[in-house]
Amino acid sequence: MEFVPDINLARKTHNWFGYREYSDAYVVSNENLYESMDFMPQNCNRALTVAASGDHPLSCSLGGAKIVDTFDVSYNAGLITKMKVFAIGCLNYLDYWDFLLDLTEDRDFTLIQNIDKISKKLSPTEYNYLRSMCGCKIFSRGNSPGRTEFDISRQDYKKLQKIVDKPYNFMMTDVVNLSGKLTENYDFIHLSNVFDYIPAISQLEVLQFLVKRVNVGGRIFVSHLVGRSVCKEFFINSKDFFDGAFKDWRIVETVNKDISVFERIR
Ligand SMILES: C[S@@+](CC[C@H](N)C(=O)[O-])C[C@H]1O[C@@H](n2cnc3c(N)ncnc32)[C@H](O)[C@@H]1O
Repeated sequence: MEFVPDINLARKTHNWFGYREYSDAYVVSNENLYESMDFMPQNCNRALTVAASGDHPLSCSLGGAKIVDTFDVSYNAGLITKMKVFAIGCLNYLDYWDFLLDLTEDRDFTLIQNIDKISKKLSPTEYNYLRSMCGCKIFSRGNSPGRTEFDISRQDYKKLQKIVDKPYNFMMTDVVNLSGKLTENYDFIHLSNVFDYIPAISQLEVLQFLVKRVNVGGRIFVSHLVGRSVCKEFFINSKDFFDGAFKDWRIVETVNKDISVFERIR
């Protein structure tokens, strides 16, 4: 059944500190997602990623994942991800960027370029939410197109137009409650900038259940922009790293600025 957002609560809490149900979403990522694409396994059938601005799942598609499931604690992240997929389906390259920029402007809904083409594909609930939240700046920039770490090129945009033909599956949940929602196994799990704001012990618990959801040869990618890296503190610096839940895993890569990639080897 479709989640029905509480517009009063959303209007009140969308810009509160921390990540919650109605937190603002970026329209363009502030991460270099090409970096994570380099670590995707070959023959990636199914990937799981945070939805964020929608660029995370788009990068998984560009990296070869045939099916991409997304999750996010924020309704707005699910919505921008869906709108970007619709936009890719019906807008040319330059109009796509104009549409995203327009979404971040605090102005009348009807003035957003090409909004009619996108909004008619939304459910009545999503459409009503979007209209009602107009003026609240539920979408912010991240980085501006042209300056972002993940500027989709014309060539990649064309590729996306061919391979992304329907919205990604979206689970609205805190990552710490994700285990109860998952029914599939994955070849790639993309956890970039998700662990930054949750306690190390919860990061560890999440990884402990996610390792059970990865196919042999599959990988988990974790990176941090800020905050404490559980991967370094608990695993890489620990001689017991590959005991217990992680005995079937190897480290593919650890990079100074807190990128850790693990692979299931058996
Ligand atoms: C940390 S934010 C920062 C924006 C991000 N760097 C980007 O490129 O869009 C990344 C995403 O993680 C989501 N998020 C943060 N904490 C979360 C949690 N505990 N569970 C699920 N999603 C979370 C946010 O809602 C946001 O969409």
